[in-house]
Amino acid sequence: MSFRATILTLFPEMFPGPLGHSLAGRALREAIWSLDCVNIRDFGQGRHRAVDDTPFGGGAGMVLRPDVLDAAIASVTDDRPLIALTPRGRPLTQARVKTLAAAPGVILLCGRYEGFDQRVLDARNAEEISIGDYVLAGGEIAALALLDATIRLLPGVMGAAESAEDESFSAPLLEYPHYTRPADWNGHTVPDILLSGNHESIAAWRRAGSETITKTRRPDLWAHHIASQPARP
Ligand code: 6GU
Repeated sequence: MSFRATILTLFPEMFPGPLGHSLAGRALREAIWSLDCVNIRDFGQGRHRAVDDTPFGGGAGMVLRPDVLDAAIASVTDDRPLIALTPRGRPLTQARVKTLAAAPGVILLCGRYEGFDQRVLDARNAEEISIGDYVLAGGEIAALALLDATIRLLPGVMGAAESAEDESFSAPLLEYPHYTRPADWNGHTVPDILLSGNHESIAAWRRAGSETITKTRRPDLWAHHIASQPARP
């Protein structure tokens, strides 16, 4: 059964965008996943198809109307998870991506302006997800990022060449540094051990590299890793 992504957006022309290329693009053509967009504008109110209004209580920006959003959601709703992309959501994790890849698909709600009227998110039991601690102008690029991360985990998308196994965040350490030919590039050489052919030493060197880079760049991941190690007797 193919993974179905439905995007609710004011900018359907942004899709599939980058997901029409490379790994995801090939999988799309092979029907490993499918994409359909719903233009929220089609559910707008009145002659001007208004989708937003000013916030109750005052303040800057515009808020997407609950009646408009609900009609757009009603046009597609089924047993797939409904996810609203918003910087106030829970941060997306590789663990959540893995569970999404095991679902029949996703319905992704993308906002612009200041956001969504909270009542429709509550009434529709939408999961609010963010892709990081910075602010995008809208949810579309976040939806593309979530889909990219999910699609590469679908069965048949990654060959042995792109193996998902010992990667950062599955590991859960950051990846060790990689090198390829030439062995000497403008005087910058590759660590000798990688040319030694000793696979045990190489594995140990890579492990140490992963630990060092994780400790320095991501002390939060390192602390979590240490805390989750089984106690040594
Ligand atoms: Cl999901 N949306 C927007 N607008 N900004 C974000 C985000 C989402 N995640 C991080 N920043």
